[in-house]
Amino acid sequence: MIPDYLAEALGEVAADTTGETAGYIPELATADPERLGAAFAMVDGEVYGAGDIDTAFTIQSISKPFVYALALSDRGFDQVLAKVGVEPSGEAFNEISLESGTGRPLNPMINAGAITTHSLAGPEGLQPAERVERITDGLSAFAGRRLQMDESVHASEMEHAHRNLAIAHMLGSYGVLTGDVRAVVDGYIRQCSLLVTARDLAIMAATLANRGVNPLSGERVVPEPVVRQVLSVMFSCGMYDAAGDWATQVGIPAKSGVAGGLIGALPGQIGIATFSPRLDSHGNSVRGVSLFERFSSDMGLHVM
Ligand code: DON
Repeated sequence: MIPDYLAEALGEVAADTTGETAGYIPELATADPERLGAAFAMVDGEVYGAGDIDTAFTIQSISKPFVYALALSDRGFDQVLAKVGVEPSGEAFNEISLESGTGRPLNPMINAGAITTHSLAGPEGLQPAERVERITDGLSAFAGRRLQMDESVHASEMEHAHRNLAIAHMLGSYGVLTGDVRAVVDGYIRQCSLLVTARDLAIMAATLANRGVNPLSGERVVPEPVVRQVLSVMFSCGMYDAAGDWATQVGIPAKSGVAGGLIGALPGQIGIATFSPRLDSHGNSVRGVSLFERFSSDMGLHVM
């Protein structure tokens, strides 16, 4: 039975207390580090889970592939690719990592690229609050329910947003971002502060696995070619400077977030989500990575 298998897998990783909660966002540093959950959402709409799968936490960087998908749908490939590349950076998620000469962020999974794709969601000319609304609507469609924002996590991160503001000002200097770059960072941090559960994340991942159609609501959220682009970039860049280890050992397109969430999406099959707040040095959940290694080997999920 899948729930028994999941509970057993959680039991095996529970003893691992290595890693730290994200220290640079004070509200995240106080998260309960013992939380642990895992959920599977199949492309036929079945959802299975064990542990803390209904505990809310902020989506953080797991918003990035979904907002990339919205930007590609709303603006088209040419406009998005002109501003954000698809190459792994080999650097931490919060490094500047811009292409020399053009100032184009190397990919949409690092902060520089995600701040830029945030600015490309929705039609041209939206006000910052309207853009956040477009993104909240879009991510809610991926999840199949209305997502709420954690205002205190947003406020906490904004007080310490020096790196993201510095990155945004660099992007502004290259003309990759235009207008009020501080408002773009504020919107990007709001996007990262949307509250989700592991169950939601599994369904969001399953919507990617199901080629853009939410398997529970039946809604087509984004077109199929967009999903192919997003999963490809998740495969090469989703785990930052650990992406090569991940590709060889786990082999599933994936994305992590600093609140402890981790998703994987296997086309045509399954969306997987885990939640455990302690992070490794790359900013990826320690127990989440262990769980995915186990799922991949037990169920033969490696795409190669
Ligand atoms: O911009 C930041 O630094 C955070 N809001 C999100 C970073 C993140 O989740 C990195 N992922 N592991």
